Amino acid sequence: MTDPRPVDWHHAQEYVEGLLPEEVRRLEAESKDVAGVPLQPSIGPSVAQLVDVLILANRPTRVLEIGTSVGYAAIAIGRALQRVGGRLITVEIDPRLAESARQNLTEAGLDEVVEVRIEDANEAIAEITEPFGLILQDGNKDDYLQMLPRLVDLLTPHGLLITDDVLFPVMEVPDSAKRWQYALSLYNEALQNRPDLQTVWLPIGDGASVSVKVPLADGTAPQP
Ligand SMILES: C[S@@+](CC[C@H](N)C(=O)[O-])C[C@H]1O[C@@H](n2cnc3c(N)ncnc32)[C@H](O)[C@@H]1O
Repeated sequence: MTDPRPVDWHHAQEYVEGLLPEEVRRLEAESKDVAGVPLQPSIGPSVAQLVDVLILANRPTRVLEIGTSVGYAAIAIGRALQRVGGRLITVEIDPRLAESARQNLTEAGLDEVVEVRIEDANEAIAEITEPFGLILQDGNKDDYLQMLPRLVDLLTPHGLLITDDVLFPVMEVPDSAKRWQYALSLYNEALQNRPDLQTVWLPIGDGASVSVKVPLADGTAPQP
């Protein structure tokens, strides 16, 4: 399909972000950084709103986030889960960021809804056995590919895997992030090639994909 109308994507993002509710636009101020720790980019308002919409539609009782940072996404997910009666486990390897996330979540009144685990997510997902209706992958980009099979195992049938930063391969990134372009292109291919996932890639934020776990073509149910 050819599109005769050129689109300025920066302008388009600004436009759609201007349409988002005040609650989403407040998240930045609510997720305060830790002094002295390099800034960790959050999912941003459009992906936060995507997760919110998917939680309200799918009503998962258990959600997992890989990579908490200071809790921007965790606050958005926690608020959505408050409405549907679910809980979030979010895993962060850096104790300073995790402590800050805990404080931000307390201030947001989400202590009962969100559990922040200070742990390497690779170890956490090996230990956890109960499945999740929705998983947000936003941890170390170098780990995305190796974590994928286990995360799919941990999804309920028809559960959703949302992955942030999937447009890295086509974005201009600083030299320090160049290796993630390759990591993300391998990851996107892996998503595309899995028969038990149906995926859409969305050009919002730094790119977000939404994958649903589907029955295999031979009629067998997805595991677990
Ligand atoms: C992009 S930031 C997450 C932002 C967060 N999801 C948000 O939108 O507010 C990525 C985070 O993953 C954490 N991280 C990196 N490797 C990890 C690992 N192996 N286990 C858990 N967290 C990890 C980093 O410390 C960093 O805080």
